Formats: sequence, C-alpha cells, structure tokens
Amino acid sequence: MKSVVLLLVVFAVEASAQCTCVNLLWAKCEGTPCKCYLPVQTPNRQLLDCTKLIPKCFLMKAEMAHIQGKRRLGGKPVETAIVDNDGIYDPDCTSTGQFRPKQCNNTEECWCVNSAGVRRSDKGSKDIQCEEVETYWIRLDLKHTTASHLNLTKIKTTIENVLQERYKLGKNLVKEVKYDEQANLMVVDIKKDIGDRTQDLSHMAYYLMKDVKGTTLFSNGSKLKFTTDGQNVSFEDIIIYYVDEKPPTFTMKSLTGGVIAVIVVVLLAVVCGLLVVYFVRKRERAMNKGQ
Ligand SMILES: *[C@@H]1O[C@H](CO)[C@@H](O)[C@H](O)[C@H]1NC(C)=O
Ligand SMILES: *[C@@H]1O[C@H](CO)[C@@H](O)[C@H](O)[C@H]1NC(C)=O
Ligand SMILES: *[C@@H]1O[C@H](CO)[C@@H](O)[C@H](O)[C@H]1NC(C)=O
Ligand SMILES: *[C@@H]1O[C@H](CO)[C@@H](O)[C@H](O)[C@H]1NC(C)=O
Repeated sequence: MKSVVLLLVVFAVEASAQCTCVNLLWAKCEGTPCKCYLPVQTPNRQLLDCTKLIPKCFLMKAEMAHIQGKRRLGGKPVETAIVDNDGIYDPDCTSTGQFRPKQCNNTEECWCVNSAGVRRSDKGSKDIQCEEVETYWIRLDLKHTTASHLNLTKIKTTIENVLQERYKLGKNLVKEVKYDEQANLMVVDIKKDIGDRTQDLSHMAYYLMKDVKGTTLFSNGSKLKFTTDGQNVSFEDIIIYYVDEKPPTFTMKSLTGGVIAVIVVVLLAVVCGLLVVYFVRKRERAMNKGQ
C-alpha cells in the first residue's frame, strides 16, 4: 500500500517536473498536455512556444512584472544619477512577440523602437509617428576574465558553436570575430541580410546578456560554458550594439554624427555599478558635511 502511494507521489512529481518551459524559467506551465504562458496578463494570457527562444518583447514584459513585484536594493542613489542606457520598460508586444514600433511604457511619453525594442528616436508625445525598422546587425563586445593566450581561429569556432548550440543561431550569421588580447575583448558581429524578416537577432542577444549577467533564462539553470583552446573562459561584461536598416532619428548631434547607428550600450559589470554608487554616496556625504 505504502509503495503504491509512494509510486503515485513520484509519478505526480515527475509529471509536474516535466511541465516546464525549457526556454523560460519564469513561464507558468500547467496541464496535460503541458502548456506554458507568460507570467503576466497581457490582455489575454500569452501562450508560449517553448521549443524556440522566447521573443525579447515577451521576455521584457515578464521581467517588468518580475521586478515590480519586488522592492529591490540598489537602483538610483539620487534622482540625478544616470546610467548609460534606458533600461527596460513594459513593452507593447504583438501577439507573435514583436515590438510595436511605438512604445510608451504605460505613460503619456512615447518613443520609437527598432525590432529589438531599442529606442531610436527622441521621446515625444503620444502622437509620435513611428515606422517599423529592422535591426539587421548586432555587435557583441564580450569582455572575459583573464586567460592566457587564446587563439583567434579557435575562438571563432567556439563562438559559432556556442551560439548555435545554446541559442540556435545559424553559424552563417556570425560574420566576423575579432579579438583584442590586451583588453580581454572578443568582438562578434552577427548580421543577417537587409530585408530578411525570417529571423530575429535580438532574442539571442537578450539570452546571452542574461547568461553573462549570471541570471540565465533557461529553466534547467545551466550556465554558459565557453571552453576554447583547453581553457574555460568566463565573461564579466557585455556591451550590445544594434544597427538598424535605417539610421535612428535622434536629434542630438553626437548620436547622428556617427558612422554606425549605434544606439544602445547595455550593462556595466556589477562591480562598476557598485563603485559608482559608492562614489556618489561618498560625495553626497561630503556635500552634506559641507552644508
Ligand atoms: C518604465 O516605467 C517603469 C515604472 O513603471 C520605470 O521603472 C522604467 O524606468 C521606465 N522605463 C523607461 C525606459 O522609461
Ligand atoms: C590557431 O589555431 C588554428 C586552428 O587550430 C591553427 O591552425 C593555428 O596555427 C593556431 N595559431 C596559433 C598562433 O597558435
Ligand atoms: C539546458 O538548456 C539549454 C538550452 O536549451 C541547453 O543548451 C543545455 O544543454 C541544457 N543543459 C542541461 C544540463 O541539460
Ligand atoms: C573546465 O570546466 C569543466 C567543468 O565545467 C572542468 O571539468 C574542467 O576541468 C575545466 N577545465 C579547466 C582547464 O579548468
């Protein structure tokens, strides 16, 4: 009798363990057959296709809900503190997970984004006109922790393999890899043809960013492994540049002047963030004393 109960329990646990979304830790899954949904109420529950990477727009939506549920330490030490990117917002997604070109983050202030959801215009009013613009080129600046002498040819092969195995990115999209040994920096250019609407580069970039941050989105919790030339390399920082089919429309000269339409710079190492907070605090304290 006991063993029957035990068996049933084991069976139940196994059944529920199987109902997870491989590609999204935060997904809400239930039922047989197993169905998974975004853990937020868009107007309707959003069913997910867990056999593929989840579109970035859905991921951001889920993350906003995730963040808003918690009161976190850190964040802006003072209202005037700035970071080098817009941060995430609560995006307006189509039913297939594309970013709508106009985004307002539930406010009266709106702006235009590219297909990667990155702002490409000044912020404006609710009537701002936005067109659909595709991001066709993504550059990853990957800074790794110290390692001895890596071989560029081997790095390129490893990158292609890792991106394909972990994020299902076709090897033909990895157009160029450069390596700056002094700076511990790998530069990876991922490009698709202009006009190609069959694949979206922003999803894999988002998954990779999360992996480098150490907060993987995969529900098995597996960490990003990068073994090249017999060495385990780990990354401490990533900067992602997005290049669109049309240049962005910022009015600031410094931005439109560039050759490349570089739009956003993401993610400082946590340590850097803490240092900034530390220095700002210190200055605040010094200023308070002064007064
Ligand atoms: C969007 O709104 C949230 C608060 O609801 C805020 O924390 C976040 O910084 C906003 N993002 C942008 C890009 O405006
Ligand atoms: C780097 O690796 C490639 C392929 O394994 C090899 O042909 C090449 O000689 C290596 N280069 C150096 C400088 O070790
Ligand atoms: C976890 O899932 C990822 C993405 O599907 C996969 O690449 C990796 O091999 C899995 N790891 C394990 C230990 O199952
Ligand atoms: C690299 O990591 C794997 C485990 O992920 C370990 O078995 C292996 O010994 C490591 N190699 C080196 C050179 O540190």
